[in-house]
Amino acid sequence: MKVKIHTLFEYLLETTGSEPEAFVGFSLSQPPKLGDFLGDLDPDLSLDWNGQSFRGLPALRDNVLAVSGLSDACAPDDVLITAGAAEANYLAFQQLVAPGDRVVTETPGWPQIDVLGRAMGAEMVHVRRREDDGWAFPMQAFADAVTPDTRLIFLTNPNNPTGRLLTDAELRQVVDIARAADAWLVVDEVYAGLEWAGPRPPSIAGMYDKGITTGSVSKALGLQGLRTGWLICRDPEMVMDAVILRENGSEIMNIMGEVIAEIALRPERYAAALDAARAEAQKTLTMLDMFIAGQERLSWVRPEAGLIGLARVEGEDGETLARNLLTDPYRTFLLPGSAYNEPAHIRVGVGGGAQANLDVGLIRLAEYLGQ
Ligand SMILES: Cc1ncc(COP(=O)(O)O)c(C=O)c1O
Repeated sequence: MKVKIHTLFEYLLETTGSEPEAFVGFSLSQPPKLGDFLGDLDPDLSLDWNGQSFRGLPALRDNVLAVSGLSDACAPDDVLITAGAAEANYLAFQQLVAPGDRVVTETPGWPQIDVLGRAMGAEMVHVRRREDDGWAFPMQAFADAVTPDTRLIFLTNPNNPTGRLLTDAELRQVVDIARAADAWLVVDEVYAGLEWAGPRPPSIAGMYDKGITTGSVSKALGLQGLRTGWLICRDPEMVMDAVILRENGSEIMNIMGEVIAEIALRPERYAAALDAARAEAQKTLTMLDMFIAGQERLSWVRPEAGLIGLARVEGEDGETLARNLLTDPYRTFLLPGSAYNEPAHIRVGVGGGAQANLDVGLIRLAEYLGQ
Protein backbone atom coordinates (compact mmCIF):
# COMPACT_ATOMS: atom_id res chain seq x y z
CA MET A 1 0.00 0.00 0.00
CA LYS A 2 1.23 3.50 -0.76
CA VAL A 3 2.80 5.08 2.30
CA LYS A 4 0.95 8.20 3.53
CA ILE A 5 2.75 11.22 4.87
CA HIS A 6 2.38 11.97 8.59
CA THR A 7 1.42 15.44 9.91
CA LEU A 8 4.78 15.76 11.65
CA PHE A 9 6.81 15.20 8.49
CA GLU A 10 4.35 17.27 6.44
CA TYR A 11 5.01 20.23 8.76
CA LEU A 12 8.78 19.74 8.62
CA LEU A 13 8.73 19.57 4.83
CA GLU A 14 6.48 22.58 4.54
CA THR A 15 8.65 24.70 6.82
CA THR A 16 12.01 23.64 5.35
CA GLY A 17 13.58 26.78 3.98
CA SER A 18 11.73 29.07 6.40
CA GLU A 19 15.14 30.06 7.84
CA PRO A 20 14.23 30.54 11.50
CA GLU A 21 16.60 32.60 13.64
CA ALA A 22 15.87 30.61 16.79
CA PHE A 23 14.54 27.17 17.81
CA VAL A 24 12.49 26.22 20.82
CA GLY A 25 12.22 22.57 20.08
CA PHE A 26 15.49 20.90 19.23
CA SER A 27 15.40 17.30 20.32
CA LEU A 28 19.12 16.50 20.31
CA SER A 29 22.15 17.52 22.33
CA GLN A 30 24.66 19.98 20.90
CA PRO A 31 26.22 18.11 17.95
CA PRO A 32 29.97 17.38 18.08
CA LYS A 33 32.18 18.27 15.11
CA LEU A 34 34.13 15.90 12.87
CA GLY A 35 37.34 17.42 14.25
CA ASP A 36 36.46 16.06 17.69
CA PHE A 37 37.08 12.55 16.34
CA LEU A 38 40.03 13.05 14.00
CA GLY A 39 42.62 12.13 16.61
CA ASP A 40 41.05 8.69 17.04
CA LEU A 41 40.44 7.94 13.36
CA ASP A 42 42.79 5.67 11.42
CA PRO A 43 43.83 7.36 8.15
CA ASP A 44 44.48 3.90 6.68
CA LEU A 45 40.89 2.78 7.24
CA SER A 46 39.70 1.19 4.01
CA LEU A 47 36.44 2.71 2.80
CA ASP A 48 35.41 -0.28 0.70
CA TRP A 49 33.64 -2.02 3.64
CA ASN A 50 34.74 -5.49 2.44
CA GLY A 51 35.52 -7.94 5.19
CA GLN A 52 33.23 -6.24 7.73
CA SER A 53 30.37 -7.93 9.55
CA PHE A 54 26.82 -7.70 8.19
CA ARG A 55 25.71 -7.06 11.79
CA GLY A 56 28.08 -4.15 12.33
CA LEU A 57 31.59 -3.65 13.71
CA PRO A 58 32.13 -6.08 16.64
CA ALA A 59 33.69 -3.36 18.83
CA LEU A 60 30.70 -1.09 18.19
CA ARG A 61 28.28 -3.87 19.09
CA ASP A 62 30.18 -4.45 22.33
CA ASN A 63 29.93 -0.74 23.16
CA VAL A 64 26.22 -0.70 22.36
CA LEU A 65 25.61 -3.56 24.79
CA ALA A 66 27.66 -1.79 27.45
CA VAL A 67 25.81 1.54 27.21
CA SER A 68 22.48 -0.32 27.17
CA GLY A 69 23.41 -2.23 30.34
CA LEU A 70 23.06 -5.49 28.40
CA SER A 71 26.63 -6.86 28.36
CA ASP A 72 25.63 -9.75 30.62
CA ALA A 73 22.14 -10.43 29.26
CA CYS A 74 22.89 -10.30 25.53
CA ALA A 75 25.61 -11.46 23.13
CA PRO A 76 27.23 -9.27 20.44
CA ASP A 77 25.35 -11.25 17.77
CA ASP A 78 22.06 -10.09 19.32
CA VAL A 79 22.94 -6.60 18.05
CA LEU A 80 22.38 -5.33 14.53
CA ILE A 81 23.84 -1.92 13.71
CA THR A 82 21.36 0.07 11.63
CA ALA A 83 20.90 3.43 9.95
CA GLY A 84 19.57 5.08 13.09
CA ALA A 85 16.81 3.91 15.41
CA ALA A 86 14.47 4.73 12.54
CA GLU A 87 15.85 1.88 10.42
CA ALA A 88 15.91 -0.43 13.44
CA ASN A 89 12.18 0.23 14.04
CA TYR A 90 11.51 -0.21 10.34
CA LEU A 91 13.33 -3.56 10.08
CA ALA A 92 11.60 -4.92 13.18
CA PHE A 93 8.17 -3.82 12.04
CA GLN A 94 8.48 -4.96 8.44
CA GLN A 95 9.77 -8.40 9.35
CA LEU A 96 7.27 -9.10 12.10
CA VAL A 97 3.96 -7.55 11.03
CA ALA A 98 1.68 -8.73 8.22
CA PRO A 99 -1.51 -7.11 6.84
CA GLY A 100 -4.38 -7.41 9.32
CA ASP A 101 -2.09 -8.01 12.33
CA ARG A 102 -2.96 -6.21 15.54
CA VAL A 103 -0.37 -3.67 16.66
CA VAL A 104 -0.70 -1.84 19.98
CA THR A 105 1.03 1.49 20.50
CA GLU A 106 0.67 4.71 22.50
CA THR A 107 -0.54 8.20 21.76
CA PRO A 108 0.99 10.71 21.92
CA GLY A 109 3.95 8.77 20.63
CA TRP A 110 6.52 8.52 17.89
CA PRO A 111 4.52 8.42 14.63
CA GLN A 112 6.78 6.11 12.62
CA ILE A 113 4.94 2.92 13.55
CA ASP A 114 1.57 4.43 12.64
CA VAL A 115 2.80 5.34 9.19
CA LEU A 116 4.24 1.86 8.65
CA GLY A 117 1.18 0.18 10.15
CA ARG A 118 -1.27 2.02 7.92
CA ALA A 119 0.81 1.29 4.83
CA MET A 120 0.95 -2.37 5.82
CA GLY A 121 -2.80 -2.58 6.46
CA ALA A 122 -2.23 -3.58 10.09
CA GLU A 123 -4.90 -3.00 12.75
CA MET A 124 -3.47 -0.09 14.74
CA VAL A 125 -4.68 0.20 18.36
CA HIS A 126 -3.69 3.22 20.46
CA VAL A 127 -3.67 3.58 24.21
CA ARG A 128 -3.90 7.17 25.32
CA ARG A 129 -1.57 8.98 27.71
CA ARG A 130 -3.42 11.85 29.39
CA GLU A 131 -2.05 15.21 30.35
CA ASP A 132 -4.19 15.42 33.50
CA ASP A 133 -2.48 12.19 34.56
CA GLY A 134 1.00 13.67 33.91
CA TRP A 135 1.16 11.78 30.57
CA ALA A 136 1.52 8.54 32.57
CA PHE A 137 1.46 5.28 30.66
CA PRO A 138 -2.12 3.94 30.90
CA MET A 139 -1.27 0.45 32.13
CA GLN A 140 -4.84 -0.78 32.55
CA ALA A 141 -5.93 0.42 29.10
CA PHE A 142 -2.78 -1.19 27.72
CA ALA A 143 -3.55 -4.50 29.43
CA ASP A 144 -7.05 -4.38 27.93
CA ALA A 145 -5.73 -3.52 24.46
CA VAL A 146 -3.18 -6.34 24.30
CA THR A 147 -5.41 -9.22 23.30
CA PRO A 148 -4.10 -12.73 22.52
CA ASP A 149 -4.03 -11.91 18.80
CA THR A 150 -1.70 -8.91 19.30
CA ARG A 151 1.36 -9.37 17.12
CA LEU A 152 3.51 -6.41 18.11
CA ILE A 153 3.67 -3.63 20.70
CA PHE A 154 5.62 -0.45 20.04
CA LEU A 155 6.51 2.01 22.84
CA THR A 156 9.05 4.77 23.34
CA ASN A 157 10.93 5.01 26.63
CA PRO A 158 11.50 7.89 27.35
CA ASN A 159 8.29 8.81 25.59
CA ASN A 160 8.51 11.12 22.59
CA PRO A 161 7.01 13.74 22.89
CA THR A 162 6.10 13.97 26.61
CA GLY A 163 9.40 12.84 28.19
CA ARG A 164 7.55 10.55 30.56
CA LEU A 165 9.50 7.47 31.70
CA LEU A 166 8.39 3.90 32.18
CA THR A 167 10.10 2.71 35.35
CA ASP A 168 11.67 -0.69 35.90
CA ALA A 169 8.50 -1.87 37.70
CA GLU A 170 6.23 -0.59 34.93
CA LEU A 171 8.40 -2.25 32.29
CA ARG A 172 8.02 -5.52 34.16
CA GLN A 173 4.25 -5.15 34.01
CA VAL A 174 4.47 -4.36 30.29
CA VAL A 175 6.57 -7.50 29.78
CA ASP A 176 4.06 -9.64 31.70
CA ILE A 177 1.25 -8.32 29.53
CA ALA A 178 3.24 -8.85 26.30
CA ARG A 179 4.31 -12.34 27.38
CA ALA A 180 0.75 -13.38 28.16
CA ALA A 181 -0.17 -12.48 24.57
CA ASP A 182 3.10 -13.87 23.15
CA ALA A 183 3.51 -10.51 21.42
CA TRP A 184 6.71 -8.90 20.16
CA LEU A 185 7.61 -5.84 22.20
CA VAL A 186 9.67 -3.05 20.63
CA VAL A 187 10.86 -0.34 23.03
CA ASP A 188 12.51 2.60 21.28
CA GLU A 189 15.12 4.08 23.64
CA VAL A 190 16.44 6.78 21.40
CA TYR A 191 16.40 9.37 24.26
CA ALA A 192 17.97 7.05 26.84
CA GLY A 193 20.76 8.49 28.97
CA LEU A 194 18.89 11.75 29.55
CA GLU A 195 16.78 10.79 32.57
CA TRP A 196 16.10 13.55 35.12
CA ALA A 197 13.69 12.00 37.60
CA GLY A 198 15.33 8.65 38.28
CA PRO A 199 17.78 6.06 36.99
CA ARG A 200 17.89 4.91 33.37
CA PRO A 201 15.30 2.12 33.14
CA PRO A 202 16.50 -1.31 31.97
CA SER A 203 16.50 -2.20 28.28
CA ILE A 204 13.74 -4.52 27.17
CA ALA A 205 16.02 -6.92 25.25
CA GLY A 206 17.37 -8.09 28.59
CA MET A 207 13.93 -8.56 30.13
CA TYR A 208 11.98 -10.51 27.53
CA ASP A 209 13.00 -12.95 24.82
CA LYS A 210 10.63 -11.27 22.35
CA GLY A 211 11.74 -7.81 23.47
CA ILE A 212 13.49 -5.61 20.92
CA THR A 213 15.49 -2.60 22.03
CA THR A 214 16.10 0.11 19.44
CA GLY A 215 18.35 3.11 19.91
CA SER A 216 21.03 5.28 18.36
CA VAL A 217 23.74 7.89 18.85
CA SER A 218 21.40 10.60 17.54
CA LYS A 219 19.91 12.22 20.65
CA ALA A 220 21.97 12.23 23.86
CA LEU A 221 25.21 12.39 21.85
CA GLY A 222 23.82 14.70 19.13
CA LEU A 223 25.26 12.47 16.37
CA GLN A 224 22.12 12.22 14.25
CA GLY A 225 23.98 12.82 10.99
CA LEU A 226 26.02 9.65 11.41
CA ARG A 227 22.85 7.64 10.83
CA THR A 228 24.01 5.01 13.24
CA GLY A 229 21.73 3.12 15.57
CA TRP A 230 20.88 -0.43 16.61
CA LEU A 231 18.42 -3.15 17.22
CA ILE A 232 19.00 -5.65 20.03
CA CYS A 233 17.05 -8.88 20.43
CA ARG A 234 17.87 -12.28 21.90
CA ASP A 235 15.87 -14.11 19.22
CA PRO A 236 18.46 -15.12 16.58
CA GLU A 237 15.86 -15.60 13.85
CA MET A 238 14.43 -12.12 14.38
CA VAL A 239 17.87 -10.53 14.09
CA MET A 240 18.77 -12.62 11.03
CA ASP A 241 15.47 -11.69 9.34
CA ALA A 242 16.36 -8.04 9.92
CA VAL A 243 19.84 -8.62 8.42
CA ILE A 244 18.20 -10.17 5.36
CA LEU A 245 15.66 -7.37 4.97
CA ARG A 246 18.37 -4.72 5.30
CA GLU A 247 20.51 -6.53 2.70
CA ASN A 248 17.66 -5.87 0.27
CA GLY A 249 17.32 -2.22 1.23
CA SER A 250 20.47 -0.33 2.13
CA GLU A 251 22.53 -3.62 2.16
CA ILE A 252 25.15 -2.61 4.73
CA MET A 253 26.00 0.19 7.13
CA ASN A 254 28.14 3.17 6.21
CA ILE A 255 31.60 2.52 7.53
CA MET A 256 32.27 6.11 8.68
CA GLY A 257 29.10 6.11 10.76
CA GLU A 258 30.09 2.86 12.41
CA VAL A 259 33.68 3.89 13.07
CA ILE A 260 32.81 7.27 14.58
CA ALA A 261 29.95 5.80 16.64
CA GLU A 262 32.33 3.15 17.98
CA ILE A 263 34.68 5.91 19.16
CA ALA A 264 31.81 7.97 20.60
CA LEU A 265 30.56 5.00 22.61
CA ARG A 266 33.92 4.05 24.15
CA PRO A 267 33.28 4.06 27.91
CA GLU A 268 35.37 7.10 28.99
CA ARG A 269 34.34 9.14 25.99
CA TYR A 270 30.67 8.24 26.32
CA ALA A 271 30.65 9.06 30.04
CA ALA A 272 32.23 12.47 29.43
CA ALA A 273 29.89 13.32 26.52
CA LEU A 274 26.85 12.25 28.49
CA ASP A 275 27.91 14.28 31.54
CA ALA A 276 28.31 17.38 29.36
CA ALA A 277 24.99 16.81 27.58
CA ARG A 278 23.19 16.25 30.87
CA ALA A 279 24.65 19.32 32.54
CA GLU A 280 23.70 21.51 29.58
CA ALA A 281 20.20 20.02 29.34
CA GLN A 282 19.49 20.38 33.05
CA LYS A 283 20.39 24.06 32.85
CA THR A 284 18.29 24.76 29.77
CA LEU A 285 15.37 22.64 30.98
CA THR A 286 15.26 24.65 34.20
CA MET A 287 15.32 27.84 32.13
CA LEU A 288 12.44 26.58 29.98
CA ASP A 289 10.51 25.42 33.04
CA MET A 290 10.81 28.87 34.64
CA PHE A 291 9.85 30.50 31.36
CA ILE A 292 6.68 28.42 31.09
CA ALA A 293 5.80 29.06 34.74
CA GLY A 294 5.94 32.80 33.99
CA GLN A 295 3.65 32.59 30.95
CA GLU A 296 -0.07 32.94 31.59
CA ARG A 297 -0.94 31.21 28.34
CA LEU A 298 1.39 28.21 28.73
CA SER A 299 1.56 25.23 31.05
CA TRP A 300 3.30 21.87 30.87
CA VAL A 301 4.22 18.68 32.58
CA ARG A 302 7.99 18.97 32.90
CA PRO A 303 9.63 15.98 31.10
CA GLU A 304 11.11 13.26 33.29
CA ALA A 305 13.65 12.52 30.56
CA GLY A 306 14.87 13.74 27.18
CA LEU A 307 15.02 17.23 25.77
CA ILE A 308 11.43 17.83 24.70
CA GLY A 309 7.96 18.10 26.19
CA LEU A 310 4.43 19.20 25.31
CA ALA A 311 3.19 22.60 26.49
CA ARG A 312 -0.52 23.48 26.51
CA VAL A 313 -1.45 26.80 24.90
CA GLU A 314 -4.43 28.92 25.99
CA GLY A 315 -6.24 31.19 23.57
CA GLU A 316 -5.31 29.60 20.25
CA ASP A 317 -4.38 26.22 18.88
CA GLY A 318 -0.79 25.04 18.75
CA GLU A 319 -0.57 25.03 14.99
CA THR A 320 -1.66 28.67 14.66
CA LEU A 321 0.95 29.60 17.23
CA ALA A 322 3.71 27.57 15.54
CA ARG A 323 2.97 29.01 12.11
CA ASN A 324 2.70 32.61 13.31
CA LEU A 325 5.86 32.30 15.36
CA LEU A 326 7.79 31.26 12.29
CA THR A 327 6.96 34.50 10.48
CA ASP A 328 8.35 38.02 10.95
CA PRO A 329 9.21 39.47 13.38
CA TYR A 330 9.52 36.29 15.49
CA ARG A 331 11.23 33.84 13.10
CA THR A 332 11.25 31.09 15.72
CA PHE A 333 10.65 27.41 15.07
CA LEU A 334 8.80 24.91 17.22
CA LEU A 335 6.59 21.95 16.37
CA PRO A 336 2.80 22.17 16.72
CA GLY A 337 1.21 19.51 18.93
CA SER A 338 -0.96 18.55 15.95
CA ALA A 339 2.11 16.59 14.80
CA TYR A 340 1.21 14.26 17.67
CA ASN A 341 -2.57 14.54 17.56
CA GLU A 342 -2.45 17.07 20.41
CA PRO A 343 -3.76 20.24 18.71
CA ALA A 344 -3.97 22.30 21.93
CA HIS A 345 -0.22 21.93 22.49
CA ILE A 346 3.16 22.89 21.15
CA ARG A 347 6.27 20.73 21.36
CA VAL A 348 9.02 22.63 23.10
CA GLY A 349 12.59 21.55 23.68
CA VAL A 350 15.99 22.66 24.77
CA GLY A 351 18.47 20.78 22.58
CA GLY A 352 20.68 22.00 19.78
CA GLY A 353 23.24 23.90 21.87
CA ALA A 354 24.30 27.43 20.99
CA GLN A 355 23.09 27.18 17.38
CA ALA A 356 19.48 26.82 18.56
CA ASN A 357 19.47 30.35 20.05
CA LEU A 358 17.04 29.16 22.68
CA ASP A 359 17.21 32.34 24.77
CA VAL A 360 16.32 34.48 21.74
CA GLY A 361 13.54 32.06 20.85
CA LEU A 362 12.03 32.32 24.33
CA ILE A 363 12.09 36.13 24.25
CA ARG A 364 10.26 36.07 20.93
CA LEU A 365 7.79 33.47 22.12
CA ALA A 366 7.03 35.68 25.14
CA GLU A 367 6.53 38.67 22.83
CA TYR A 368 4.20 36.65 20.64
CA LEU A 369 2.21 35.50 23.65
CA GLY A 370 1.83 39.10 24.72
CA GLN A 371 4.06 39.01 27.79
C1 LIG B 1 11.33 8.17 19.34
C2 LIG B 1 12.22 8.27 18.15
N1 LIG B 1 12.64 7.16 17.53
C3 LIG B 1 13.45 7.20 16.47
C4 LIG B 1 13.88 8.41 15.96
C5 LIG B 1 14.82 8.38 14.80
O1 LIG B 1 16.10 8.59 15.27
P1 LIG B 1 17.42 8.14 14.53
O2 LIG B 1 18.15 9.37 14.16
O3 LIG B 1 18.16 7.30 15.52
O4 LIG B 1 17.01 7.34 13.35
C6 LIG B 1 13.47 9.60 16.55
C7 LIG B 1 13.90 10.90 15.99
O5 LIG B 1 13.40 11.96 16.33
C8 LIG B 1 12.63 9.53 17.68
O6 LIG B 1 12.23 10.64 18.31
